[in-house]
Amino acid sequence: MDVFLIEGGRRLDGRIRVNGAKNAALPLLAACLLTDERVTLREVPDLADIRNMVRLLAELGCHRTNEAEAPSVLSLRTDDPALSHARYDIVRTMRASICVLGPTLARRGLARVSMPGGCLIGDRPVDLHLRGLRALGAQIELDSGDIVASAPGGRLRGARIFLGGPNGSTVLGTANVLSAATLAKGTTTIECAACEPEIVDLARLLTAMGARIRGAGSPRITIDGVESLGGADHAVMADRIEAGTLMCAAAITNGDLTIENCPLDSLMAVVDRLDAIGVDIDVLDESDAGGALCRVTSQRMLRPVEITTQPFPGFPTDLQAQFMALLCLAEGNSIITEKIFTERFMHVPELARMGARLLRQGSTVVVSGVRSLVGAPVMASDLRASASLILAGLAARGTTVVNRVYHLDRGYERLDERLRALGASVTRVDEKESAA
Ligand code: EPZ
Repeated sequence: MDVFLIEGGRRLDGRIRVNGAKNAALPLLAACLLTDERVTLREVPDLADIRNMVRLLAELGCHRTNEAEAPSVLSLRTDDPALSHARYDIVRTMRASICVLGPTLARRGLARVSMPGGCLIGDRPVDLHLRGLRALGAQIELDSGDIVASAPGGRLRGARIFLGGPNGSTVLGTANVLSAATLAKGTTTIECAACEPEIVDLARLLTAMGARIRGAGSPRITIDGVESLGGADHAVMADRIEAGTLMCAAAITNGDLTIENCPLDSLMAVVDRLDAIGVDIDVLDESDAGGALCRVTSQRMLRPVEITTQPFPGFPTDLQAQFMALLCLAEGNSIITEKIFTERFMHVPELARMGARLLRQGSTVVVSGVRSLVGAPVMASDLRASASLILAGLAARGTTVVNRVYHLDRGYERLDERLRALGASVTRVDEKESAA
């Protein structure tokens, strides 16, 4: 397994472009199952999770038709609509595989998808997904760890659905029900739908394929079902979480970073917190279709703040760990409350190994700022915790060894190379070499 060796204390300086969003691309790929025509997705990030999803789609009879092209452009076409089983050995590696359930069921009248397991940020139920699909008329049983869903008469029917759970809306649950409803007979209204930009991006693709959708991005989405969907050509939205991570990297190293393709419109809660902390974001140009050109610098002294994660447009849970690393160096006490995944604190003990002063009480962590962090060997545990530890390593005195960076490779493309190009000392080595 690879590790990152990081020599801290170097300012980031230069220009970087934000990649396409992993969390948009995964449901967009699943939507390819809704048609027998070719769908082309551009700006797709080259990540382990994406490659896993392409492998899963192939098992479901939907194959990539442009293997010779760059990995950022995926053209897919279904050539065997009879396949409908998403097996455990792929689903267990990526719980987002659940987003093939709705499209497979809607297009083929049948779907067998392994129940996704939990993960280190908490148990990841899918009860809302199943509630929504049952409301569309699906018959759903559990059989030996698989979700087995069927549509009576081969077609789902429109319904009014409340899709909220104890922690608010569900992003992939909304994606599943939205996608399935496009082919249902009649009209579907989803109440308490997720408002995340990734849902808006999915609705854009579905509409380009011929779906009739109103209200995407709001808590109420209305879908008039159609008989069939066609192909489309769609560019994946910019990754707001990668952009927020890069902003934190600039701030924590007291750097000067110009970010291209930055989706500022979907980062208002994040920009609000950065402004309160004392991070300056100058918008240099907003003409780019997907995102702006902006320059990120920070004042020497970082101010402590309060952060509570919420469904969009609130502060995103996927940036909680990265902001915790940043606030370890603020002048005073910050309070971070995690309302989406209350166990999402695997980075806390690892940051403490680097000298951070953190006090966890349930789903809240008090971050007492320190003058500096000290490099140490630390263990990545999930995608965003990995990013948090890398940010801390960039700022820490001395050497940080981040183990198990395969977690990072799921959601950040070539991050070591891209940070090195900005002046960071980040080297990827095999863990056997680093122990030598
Ligand atoms: C998506 O996961 C993202 N993943 C997550 O990003 C992100 O953290 C999350 O949305 C919240 O924004 C992808 O898009 C691939 P949810 P998802 O369903 O859809 C509860 C990352 O690091 N819930 O919106 O699986 C759930 O337990 C990943 O990129 C139910 O109770 O999350 C949580 O408390 C991590 N029942 C809350 O809802 C359900 O059926 C929000 O979860 C589904 C969810």
